[in-house]
Amino acid sequence: MNSDYAATELAEPNLRALLGTAGLDVEYVRGEGNTLFRLGADGQEIPVLDFAGGYGSLLFGHSHPEIIARARQLLDEGTPVHAQFSSHPYANRLAAELNRIVHRETGTTEPYYATFANSGAEAIEAAVKHAELDRVLRLGELLERIAAGAERAREAVADGSAVVPDSLFTRLRTEPPAAGQDRTEAVLAAVAAHNAEPGSRPPLFLALEGGFHGKLMGSVQLTHNPGYREPFDALGVRTRFVPEGRADLLKEIAAEEGATLLEPVVEDGEIRLAEHRAPVFCAFLLEPIQGEGGIRPLTQEGARAVDEFRAATGCPVVVDEVQSGMGRTGALLASAALGLRGDYYVLAKSLGGGIAKASVMLVHESCYRPQFELVHSSTFAKDSFSCHIALKVLELLEADGGSAYRRAAERGEALKAMLDRVRLAFPTVAAEVRGRGLMLGFEFRDQSDSPDQVLGEAARTGMIGYVLAGHLLHAHRIRTFPTASAPHTLRFEPSLLLTDEEIGRLETALTDVCALVRDRASDRLVTS
Ligand code: F0G
Repeated sequence: MNSDYAATELAEPNLRALLGTAGLDVEYVRGEGNTLFRLGADGQEIPVLDFAGGYGSLLFGHSHPEIIARARQLLDEGTPVHAQFSSHPYANRLAAELNRIVHRETGTTEPYYATFANSGAEAIEAAVKHAELDRVLRLGELLERIAAGAERAREAVADGSAVVPDSLFTRLRTEPPAAGQDRTEAVLAAVAAHNAEPGSRPPLFLALEGGFHGKLMGSVQLTHNPGYREPFDALGVRTRFVPEGRADLLKEIAAEEGATLLEPVVEDGEIRLAEHRAPVFCAFLLEPIQGEGGIRPLTQEGARAVDEFRAATGCPVVVDEVQSGMGRTGALLASAALGLRGDYYVLAKSLGGGIAKASVMLVHESCYRPQFELVHSSTFAKDSFSCHIALKVLELLEADGGSAYRRAAERGEALKAMLDRVRLAFPTVAAEVRGRGLMLGFEFRDQSDSPDQVLGEAARTGMIGYVLAGHLLHAHRIRTFPTASAPHTLRFEPSLLLTDEEIGRLETALTDVCALVRDRASDRLVTS
């Protein structure tokens, strides 16, 4: 390779430089359990306790021996990883196993059909595309029915079995035609005029404020953070963001955005109009626990408000379990504990066992459109390697009567108890501990007014979480990060292998960080 090229940094140099300002641009050379290893100047491995946990993809830790053994076995056996357009019994087994668990946790019995993908954002987009296909087909079916109704109305008036009453014109807010003019055609034209706009309106999406659903062209429009979304506004769909738990606001949106389609029907010797809800809402996306938005659990009340909106509008609900799912909160679905039923579920991250890129979109039978299988695909999705690894992950979760779920919940409680202890010890520094299971956040109070110049400046520029993460790394060999849209919140998503000793190490480290912030002592920051 040309040495000039080798010396030039071309793989996201700006991001690396930014991480470098907080001392976070270190290279890790090996991972095992909750530990990542970097190399010291002497070439020796330095262990770092990893609470970032691949942002949630490492429920079983780095290099889990059983997952690695399964991967080796698959490669040694020469498993054909890419055999598109053939029978994929392993994908079917994976879909069946996911269904069995979803049914157990939600109490539903109808099937959810599975579409596999490669990343969280891609599976979100598959769900959105499916919801849009379903909406367009429902709309088409309705418009066809309306066209047939118009034809029947014409025939009934022509053969004298029905008349067009004046009340129809009043209802359509239009004048009856002059004598001698065709009343039927006048009514049908007014009906067509009424239906034209709701019948061709672009779909509307709803999502929660603070939500994160990915950064691809479609999914970024459903992600709340304007910094990610706004530059790409012109590429995307229309989304209304709502704060959680605002049933009143959702009612307003249902009224404001909802629309009806009118169908001419022949009844009791006259033409009447039947009203149908126009399918203008495509999907409502939400996370049961917002991850990137600052580890914010959805409340029961918030879940109920979404359910009511679905009942009122027919808008399907996409439950994004990309980060919260796969056992992290003690169940496959974090939403099950809220009693929230998804028309769609999206799972990713730990589904790939920390080594495969795998995600899945599950769609409830009641809205499933089989033709979706012919219009959506990816070269890499549903490959045998990631399906087999995902099956291994489910086997590990389900083994021993579900002890992994119980362990995730129990370890999460132990970690949360420690975070709460630190919060209580530093009331002027710590604002809140949030989350469930092994998905926890520790929020610092705003330090923008800190007389400590370094801390104050870092808070004002949204860098404080990164600065504190840099100190945790260099002073305590602990890795974590703030969530990108809530820079005052550090997130903790370790694997279920988490030990009491590891919790103790974090307690010591976090206590040091809180004392440093309380003492306004940026001179104690260790940055390399
Ligand atoms: N949905 C949720 C809830 C997520 O947390 C993420 C990613 C995605 C979708 C997109 O998945 O990265 O595989 O395309 N969250 C990461 C985070 C990036 O910072 O929490 P992806």
